[in-house]
Parts: sequence; C-alpha cells; structure tokens
Amino acid sequence: MPVARALGALTRRDSHLPAPTGGLTGQDPRSNGPDGEIPHEYVESGDSTRDPDSHIKEDACSRFRVQLTPRQPRKNTLSAIGNTPLVRLNRVTKGVAADVYMKLEYYNPTGSYKDRMALAMIEGAERDGLLRKGDTVVEYTGGSTGSSLAFVCAVKGYKLKVVTSDAFSDEKLDTMKAFGAMLTIVPSGSGKTTPEIIPKMMKVAEEMAREPHTYWTNQFYNKYMLAGYNALGVEILDQMGGRVDAFVASFGTAGCSMGVAEVLKARNSDVKVCLVEPAESPVLSKGIKGTHDIEGIGAGFVPPLLRRELYDGVLTVSTEEAKAMARRLAREEGIFAGSSSGANVLAATRVGRELGAGKSVVTVAVDSGLKYLSTDLYGG
Ligand SMILES: Cc1ncc(COP(=O)(O)O)c(C=O)c1O
Repeated sequence: MPVARALGALTRRDSHLPAPTGGLTGQDPRSNGPDGEIPHEYVESGDSTRDPDSHIKEDACSRFRVQLTPRQPRKNTLSAIGNTPLVRLNRVTKGVAADVYMKLEYYNPTGSYKDRMALAMIEGAERDGLLRKGDTVVEYTGGSTGSSLAFVCAVKGYKLKVVTSDAFSDEKLDTMKAFGAMLTIVPSGSGKTTPEIIPKMMKVAEEMAREPHTYWTNQFYNKYMLAGYNALGVEILDQMGGRVDAFVASFGTAGCSMGVAEVLKARNSDVKVCLVEPAESPVLSKGIKGTHDIEGIGAGFVPPLLRRELYDGVLTVSTEEAKAMARRLAREEGIFAGSSSGANVLAATRVGRELGAGKSVVTVAVDSGLKYLSTDLYGG
C-alpha cells in the first residue's frame, strides 16, 4: 500500500510544539552540535534540567561536569526499568529527509520494553487486591512478556505459570525458565506465528487460571499495562524536547503503541501515530490474517486495547524486510535488536520520507538481538 495512502491524514503541516519551551526539559535534540549529536554525558556547568535523582561530578580541571544517574543504590532491580537511551539513526536512514530516532528499550533488565508492562500489570493487580502474597500468576506469551513477568515475579516472590509455544525463540523460553517460570508448550506445527497459535495458548491459560489463588494477567485485555507505556511516552517527549511529529510502532497487544500514543496525543494532537503489521498478516489494513515470522506482533486478530482515535495509519512490512532491516541496524548503527524492531525502523523511514525535512519520527528498539541468536535472524 502506498505510504501516503496508508498514513491517511499525514500531512506536511507544521505540527511542532513551539521550541524550545515545548520540551519537558526545554532541550531540542537537533540543536546539539554540528552533527546533531546529543552530549548526554557531558553537561555545561549550571544545567538545572536534569533528573533530580542524578548528581554532578566535576573533573580535575572543572571544565566538564559528568552526569551520573542515579547515585543512590537502587531498592532492587525493578527500579532499573525505564529511562532508556534515545538515539538518532544515521545510516539506515540515508535518503530520508526527516530525522528518525530510536528508543533503545533493550536497556531494560530483561532486554525488552515488556519489563515496563509486566511491572505495571503486577503492581496494578496488587493495588486493586487481585493479586496477593502466595498467589500464582498465569499468562500466555510469546516469551517477551513471559520473560519480563518471570523477572518481576522472581523479585516480588510470586510463582509464574506460562503458556507458550515453539513458535518463539529458545532464548525466550530459556530466559523464562531461568527466572523460575513453569512452562507449558503449545506446539505450533510450523515454528511460526500462525493465526491459531495465540488463541490456542489463551485457551490453555484460561483453564489454568481457574485454579484458586491464581491471577491471570491476560495481556491482550490488561489495561494496567498502559501505565507502563505512558512512562515510555513521557520519556520520549522529555528526550526529544517535545519535538515529535510521528511515532511508529508495530503491535501485538497494542499496549506500547496505545500507551505512548495517549501521552503524545494529549501533549500535541497533531502527532501522527503509525502502526506496523506483518505484510503476511494484514489484519488491520486489509482484514486478512496469515502466517509470518516477526515474533511478538501480528497475533491474527485486532487487539482489544487498540483505540481508533489513537492512531493515524497502518503500514505493512514483510518478515524478510523486517529481518533485513534488523540485520542492517546491527551492522550499520550498532543497534542489536529483534525483527519487530527492524519492522519499526523500516516503517519509520517510510514515514520520515513522507514527512520531509525538519520533522522528527520516533520509533522503538523493542528488544535485544540476544533473544534471537538461535534463530535465522542472526544465523541460527
Ligand atoms: C518482540 C516484540 N515486538 C513487538 C511487540 C508488540 O508490543 P505490544 O504488545 O505492546 O503491541 C511484542 C509484544 O509481545 C514483542 O514481543
């Protein structure tokens, strides 16, 4: 589908917030030096816009002050979730007039943005009395949510039962086990994401959730997760100094795209949010479901968390295109991520071409390439 049509209302209209006061920190990432590099580590004396949790250390000659964040020992590993770096892409964006930025979510403890939603789901349920000490958590998962849930449950002392499949990488299944989760494997038949596999996994998890003292996170329906992704949206606005023209994200549950979109659109209703789905399973754009191999996205149905007013267009990327871009990201940008991140970047460059010079597109490196070393993405 042509990008312009897919994006519908995307226009060249100036949708920037007024600069430089638009950002939460008042910083414009494009105004930092001739190469547009962002001197995150070295700040001039007198900077008062930094995280209050951070502190300044002066070097011997007091020429630079080095930003260290945070200084205090953290309470536990859960507080290492979030505050990930955001970088500009420089080589895979050749010929794209707009600036494309990527939030490196593999800096989260399990190497995935799912840490944000796992913590939000567990803490939401605890707060509302749905999950109590001694309970068991149950979930169906391709292994990203499962790894993050297993991590959060390990720290908080909950047992976790996971329903997953051989459609997903061994690394993800092994990670869940390493954090102490108990796994039930539903065979996929093909080793790929078929339209049937997620609904099958959901059914098994639903059965398990009938046991007493069990909390089923049921990720496709879990609204607690949005708070985790709202934080991601706030970080993006902060790091971009408020200057975001478009946000591009592939979707599974649509938790990330919707949670970030809520924040960006509340701040500036002109921000365009573009969703990405597998070309082999264009459920949203064409109503067709199919088998693909971009792990974590394209579940074969419209996710219940999706809200029409929060996105402006849908782009499709094929499995091969997504994997090819993921490999380029590693070799040309030093960004080692999964295939859904490749899909995100390819779609973001298409949006960036459409928007043109002076505009900023932000997308996400969902997770680490380390989760895919055994797959054909990085050699197998
Ligand atoms: C690797 C990967 N990419 C993308 C997504 C999509 O994220 P969301 O469920 O927030 O739409 C997921 C979700 O499971 C994932 O595991």
